[in-house]
Amino acid sequence: MAFQRAKITVFGAGFVGSTVAQRCADKELGDVTLVDIVPDMPMGKALDMFESSPVERFDAKVTGSNNPDDCRGSDIVVVTSGIARKPGMSRDDLLKTNAQIVYSVVDKVREHAPNAVLIMVTNPLDVMTFLAHHRSGFPKNRVLGMAGVLDSARMASFVAMELNVSIKDISPMVLGGHGDTMVPLPRYTTVSGIPITDLIPADRIEAINKRTQTGGAEIVNLLKTGSAWYAPGSSVVAMVESIVKDQRRVLPCCVLLEGEYGLKGSWQGVPCVLGKGGLEKIIELKLNDAEKKLLENSNQHVAKAIAECKTLLGL
Ligand code: APR
Repeated sequence: MAFQRAKITVFGAGFVGSTVAQRCADKELGDVTLVDIVPDMPMGKALDMFESSPVERFDAKVTGSNNPDDCRGSDIVVVTSGIARKPGMSRDDLLKTNAQIVYSVVDKVREHAPNAVLIMVTNPLDVMTFLAHHRSGFPKNRVLGMAGVLDSARMASFVAMELNVSIKDISPMVLGGHGDTMVPLPRYTTVSGIPITDLIPADRIEAINKRTQTGGAEIVNLLKTGSAWYAPGSSVVAMVESIVKDQRRVLPCCVLLEGEYGLKGSWQGVPCVLGKGGLEKIIELKLNDAEKKLLENSNQHVAKAIAECKTLLGL
């Protein structure tokens, strides 16, 4: 029997893409191909990364390419290609440009890596994930959006700061779209099994929720020249790892809902079991009325953005 390493292609060798590539290689999750349109740049980054392997002692090939056909045979394709959000720019402003870029990438994936699991990162995330599913014709279990892991990681970071406890004991939960209407769930966010509602006063939880919802903008405003990449990169890699190692971790991802949470045909972030087939199972939480309302609001926001995208692209 021939054993093969997983092949992971990352479209976009910018800040997020190169961080994903580096961490996938460091963790020996597979051989990594970095694809970008900027001449030679992905080759330079890939070679530099590979040259770190004798020092870091990881076994993974890292190659760069300007040819999207080099995604051929990939098991996982991560799509970060696009234009990053600038200060004062909403995620929806990015829609038109990034939609065209994602289209061109997904066409190549469909042609050369028809069995890949697609992990979308380009913003506006929920819309791009819809678009990738629509354009690829892939089954829903192989089209995932990375948002919930990042949003949850931000919430966990703020809980750790608030309580001055180890992040290792925090298990966060954020549902909904990747935008200001996302739904942090304090009742389902625990510290060693204890809901934070038992540990943190309501007004401080409210502040944590708000900071989580605007977590992306907080970084954009500090950086002034782009958006976050360390935490987004790590979040993608958690998803890649769960799939290539068939870990079946429960991670919030943007997926197509077909009746779950009372939503049909919606793209929303919900807890998912990720394994070798991509999305293995959606887990439905029991929401109270207030939480249901927030999810419905988030869903309306995403549905509107998807409808606008459809109009824009004549879908
Ligand atoms: N194919 C491959 N790469 C492309 C293409 C394409 N068709 N079009 C653009 N790119 C590349 C750009 O050349 C750039 O190197 O995508 C890369 C994007 O990298 P950055 O500008 O550094 O953006 P980054 O910070 O990595 O964010 C990428 O993730 O979090 C989201 O909002 C963010 O949508 C953005 C994406």
